[in-house]
Amino acid sequence: MEIIIQPDAEAATEVATTIVARLLREKPDAVLGLATGSTPLLLYRALVRMKLDWRKVKTFNLDEYVGLPPAHEQSYHHFMWENLFRHVNISRKNIHLPDGMSRNIPKFCAEYEALICAAGGIDLQVLGIGTDGHIGFNEPTSSLASRTRIKTLTRQTHEDNGRFFGSADKVPHHVITMGLGSIMEARLCLLLAFGLKKARAIAATVEGPVASINPASILQMHPDVRICLDRAAASKLKRADYYHRVYDNKPDWQQYQN
Ligand code: PGA
Repeated sequence: MEIIIQPDAEAATEVATTIVARLLREKPDAVLGLATGSTPLLLYRALVRMKLDWRKVKTFNLDEYVGLPPAHEQSYHHFMWENLFRHVNISRKNIHLPDGMSRNIPKFCAEYEALICAAGGIDLQVLGIGTDGHIGFNEPTSSLASRTRIKTLTRQTHEDNGRFFGSADKVPHHVITMGLGSIMEARLCLLLAFGLKKARAIAATVEGPVASINPASILQMHPDVRICLDRAAASKLKRADYYHRVYDNKPDWQQYQN
């Protein structure tokens, strides 16, 4: 795991943006795994500003609420369209999100996995993290080998996401999410976390045991994970000095520059 601690969310996003932009320049037909929520907003804004070529890029989103049609303001279809897709030259046929309106969710999930596979797998997976340690919507005690499937949100996530819906009771109970096993197959995982609210989950992810009670901890088993943090999200890390030391002493060829 590479832990990149920056003074604020803007600086941490800048590093993440460099990583994504470099991939899109080196591999114009890259397959991106994308996340929603407040965390990746700065990243998407920065990528839009860079006017990269998205014509051949394929995207697969991590998750979607069950029962929300794509036009619903809080659907992740809507989120992605408003915050990224409509601002770049991506081809509509290359965009994939779980279908929250599917009548046969297990069948849809199997097809979603097959589509990722047919695209050659995910090159880079963008991840946020829940205060309970979820990635995608893989809530605590999710199987560490799970695949795309239906999940029930925890009370904590319900409350955390209530701010988007006006109140927690409007948040759907069910979601479709790529599984932890699916996420682990991405060639590179790029996790972003900002703010004190994420500090506990980040410390458990980086320095705790690998355990389904903190789903993001499975990333310790992944060969290429970069975690971009602001100071607050990093504040409970015991080895922060070491992570700074690694970052400050990277050989030239390993540095993040556009
Ligand atoms: P947030 O959500 O980016 O809105 O904090 C992260 C998540 O729940 O995965």
